[in-house]
Amino acid sequence: MKKFKLLVASNNEDLNQKAIKLSKKIKLPFAGSLEDLKKSHEDHEDDFLLVVSEDLIYLKKGLAGTSKPIYCNFCKWSKENKRNNLVRTMRGLPQKGVIIDATAGLGRDALILSSLVERVILIERVPWVSALLEDGLKNSIEHLPYLSNTRVICSDSKKFLLNLKIKPDAIYLDPMFENTGKSKAKREVQALRDLTIQSNEKELLEVALKKAKDRVVVKRHKKVKNLAGIKPTFSLTGRVVRYDVYSIS
Ligand SMILES: C[S@@+](CC[C@H](N)C(=O)[O-])C[C@H]1O[C@@H](n2cnc3c(N)ncnc32)[C@H](O)[C@@H]1O
Repeated sequence: MKKFKLLVASNNEDLNQKAIKLSKKIKLPFAGSLEDLKKSHEDHEDDFLLVVSEDLIYLKKGLAGTSKPIYCNFCKWSKENKRNNLVRTMRGLPQKGVIIDATAGLGRDALILSSLVERVILIERVPWVSALLEDGLKNSIEHLPYLSNTRVICSDSKKFLLNLKIKPDAIYLDPMFENTGKSKAKREVQALRDLTIQSNEKELLEVALKKAKDRVVVKRHKKVKNLAGIKPTFSLTGRVVRYDVYSIS
């Protein structure tokens, strides 16, 4: 599998200090401002850049203007979210409930989950993904106040769940799955595939099943087998995705 480089950049020199601070926090090298990178004539076509701009942090592939920014655009996504199978998998949970999204990624699914219960905890182990999530939440709360029930924790979920004192009502897992069939993955999903590594999902599911109070929900491509070969209580299958629901009795 091809390895991609990820560098932190600033949108302009005035933002260098802010970008350097972020690069230290997430332990990635700072490459300079976008203007400097363009002047250097280095070929960054295959690199990903995490750009600190005035208003937001975004991910971009290469320096070309044609590469669209990737960021947690909760306001836009909130208009796209319809009642879908993910909502159905959480039916019956108490409104005062707690859901842990243990593989938060860029938070598209978490946005749906946060409209269903009182508290949603997002766990993401990759520091730069976690930084995008925090930035996206900060920028959207004014327009989507219900997102204030959502907290991001940068940690490995297995470790986090093992140390957890409370029992969340539901734990949601969306481990990365490879592209199956001809359909092209969304840009955000493809970027995560290019830049993050897969974890031991079997162990994560086993821990989740021990820690959840009511259910564990796992998102899969409809054509792939159940995670770790463990049979769910029931599944909801859509056009591309299947949700495997494990009820805790
Ligand atoms: C397919 S993405 C999730 C996409 C997400 N559901 C969304 O709607 O944007 C999987 C994410 O889970 C994270 N991840 C995988 N294993 C993890 C673990 N053990 N602990 C925390 N995060 C994990 C990866 O870094 C990646 O960002």
